[in-house]
Amino acid sequence: MNVHMWQDDATRENLATLVSRGVTLVEPVEGMLACGYEGAGKLADVDVIANEVMRQVERVRSLEGTVMLVTAGPTHEPIDPVRYIANRSSGITGYEIAREAALRGAEVYLVHGPTDLPVPFGVRDIPVTTAAQMLHACEAVFGSCDVAVFAAAVADYRVEHPAGDKIKKAGEGALTLRLIENPDVLATLAAHKGDTFVVGFAAETSQVLDHARAKLARKNADLIVANDVSDPSMGFGTACNKVWLVSKDGTDELPVATKRAIAGELLDRIARR
Ligand code: CTP
Repeated sequence: MNVHMWQDDATRENLATLVSRGVTLVEPVEGMLACGYEGAGKLADVDVIANEVMRQVERVRSLEGTVMLVTAGPTHEPIDPVRYIANRSSGITGYEIAREAALRGAEVYLVHGPTDLPVPFGVRDIPVTTAAQMLHACEAVFGSCDVAVFAAAVADYRVEHPAGDKIKKAGEGALTLRLIENPDVLATLAAHKGDTFVVGFAAETSQVLDHARAKLARKNADLIVANDVSDPSMGFGTACNKVWLVSKDGTDELPVATKRAIAGELLDRIARR
């Protein structure tokens, strides 16, 4: 393909649609093109294409028969009808896990807070807004799940008494909101997890592994995916991440990778169990 055709908005948008539906893209490479231009548009090496095909074939159906719950995104906790408390979570990690799990044949319930992301193909979409709603939605399906992955950035606190009407400036120079703790969705469900394999996340800014190990025990999880959110190039809202997988058997450090690749690696490990 000609490089300008490859870079054209229409081509990019059509490819993005296909990728969001679960199609895997083998990108063309740069080089001398048949039309005489030089740039991206050459068919990838046949070995690269063949390897990707083999990778897809091998992973297909590795989670067939598995029912999985995934939580994703932030929660929004109302202050009044027009304002809320939220956080910087984009939801990408949870959505990628849900997408990759569905591609491997799992039946996936995606319980997510407000995000701008398209729901992955073949995933059961359960949108919620608040932490209390997320807990309620998860409680309805957790008992039937073999695996539960809690990737949501649930707000730790909510406003105790959200105002029924928009709060007006009182001219006092300050406003006090009383916050109370939200339920911990992961810890509440994992306390009675039976045979369900429970994966939690730990977003930390310091002592990443110590905090992750403490969360593993405190929340009764089987695995914690720990990441360092103090680095602005990774974590919240970015395509790539660096994570450690912490379980009672030890800690595995994964190389920096796209969130999609990390989701794939996590699910391959879950499938192997
Ligand atoms: N989590 C949850 N419900 C909450 C808070 C957290 O389900 N109310 C889950 C997250 O989805 C994640 C894990 O618990 O899998 C850890 O979340 P994190 O925000 O890192 O930790 P916190 O429990 O909030 O603890 P701390 O504030 O001490 O870091």
